[in-house]
Parts: sequence; structure tokens; C-alpha cells
Amino acid sequence: FPFFMPPGVAFTNGHFTAENIITKVTHSGDLAGIFHDQTAWRAIPSETPIYQVEMLSSAQGEGELYVGTTHLNPGRVGDEFYMTRGHFHQRREQGEVYFGLRGSGLLLLQNEQGEARLEEVSPGSVHIIPGLTAHRLINTGTEVLSALAVWPSIAGHDYAALAQGFALRVVLHDGKIQAKEVQNG
Ligand code: F6R
Ligand code: ZN
Repeated sequence: FPFFMPPGVAFTNGHFTAENIITKVTHSGDLAGIFHDQTAWRAIPSETPIYQVEMLSSAQGEGELYVGTTHLNPGRVGDEFYMTRGHFHQRREQGEVYFGLRGSGLLLLQNEQGEARLEEVSPGSVHIIPGLTAHRLINTGTEVLSALAVWPSIAGHDYAALAQGFALRVVLHDGKIQAKEVQNG
């Protein structure tokens, strides 16, 4: 029998080696209303890349899994660190696992009651995102933050449910990384 060569991932940076890799870049201009300092956001060229997701092309459907790496650039909009848009899964009950690979940052988790918590992301960290939990990566470091993720292909994304934003914002205040509670509205 032949030995097939599976896809590969470099644990140093999260890049895949495979025949079919799907890549999606999210630019500053795609993130309207996400950062709290809208004046600072408008001052950044809209084509500035904020993060990139590379995914293996894999089977879709009940029981199938996706694998992808998020590469989140370092930087801030005003005092707020670069972050992903963040989402609940469309199929709310579906969880996900993130693995920190490089850089340093935070994983912001929030349940449907609006209770938020932060986990430190660093090379080798493992994050079990339970069902019914929204999630967002935040890069608080000076290099690219890369995290590998595995999630059910049926999970989908629900971005609209977080139109009000998360309950915590992570900012640089007095030279320190600080999480601030948000008064929604
Ligand atoms: C998939 C997942 C990640 C994110 C990626 C980008 O369920 O959690 O692959 O999709 O980190 O973040 P969003 O989708 O919030 O723009
Ligand atoms: Zn997800």
C-alpha cells in the first residue's frame, strides 16, 4: 500500500504545506465599528492588513472538521490592540480548540449572558472554547500572533450577535496592558 503524504503545519509559525490552502486577509477598512476610537481607526489607511486566516481545504458537513491558522499583526488603533472581529458560532453549541504558536496575546471569551474572561495566548497554550461562547484574539505583543484552530465545519459564524461588542476591551494605558470593562451602548 502507498503511504500518503498528509498536509503539514509548521509549529513555529502556523503556515501550512498543502496543495489547497485558502487564505483570507482582513484589512482595517473591513473592521468598521470594531475599535472604540473611531477617529484613530479612520486615520489608518483602510488597506492596512490586520489579520490573515489560512485554512486547509477540507470536507464540509456534519461531523467534519476545519483546520486553520489566524495570523494577527501587532499594532494598535489608538490605545486598543489589534484584534479579530470575534464571533459566536452560528451553531451556538459548537466549540473549538485554539493552540498558541507564536507571539503573545489574549483570547477573549464571552458567554451568552455577556460574561467575559481572558486567557493568555503564548506558544504551546491550549484553549478549549466551549459551546455557546464568543471568541476573539487580541495581539498584545510586538510580533505576529499566530494561533492554530480546529472547529466543526458546520459551526459557521454569527458576527451580528456581537454588534454591541464584547464586554471587555484590551488597551495600553500608562505603558501597561489593561483590560477595561465596557459600558455597552
Ligand atoms: C473559526 C475561528 C477562527 C476565526 C479567525 C478570524 O471558527 O474561530 O478561524 O474565524 O480567527 O476571526 P473572525 O472570524 O472573528 O474574523
Ligand atoms: Zn470560531
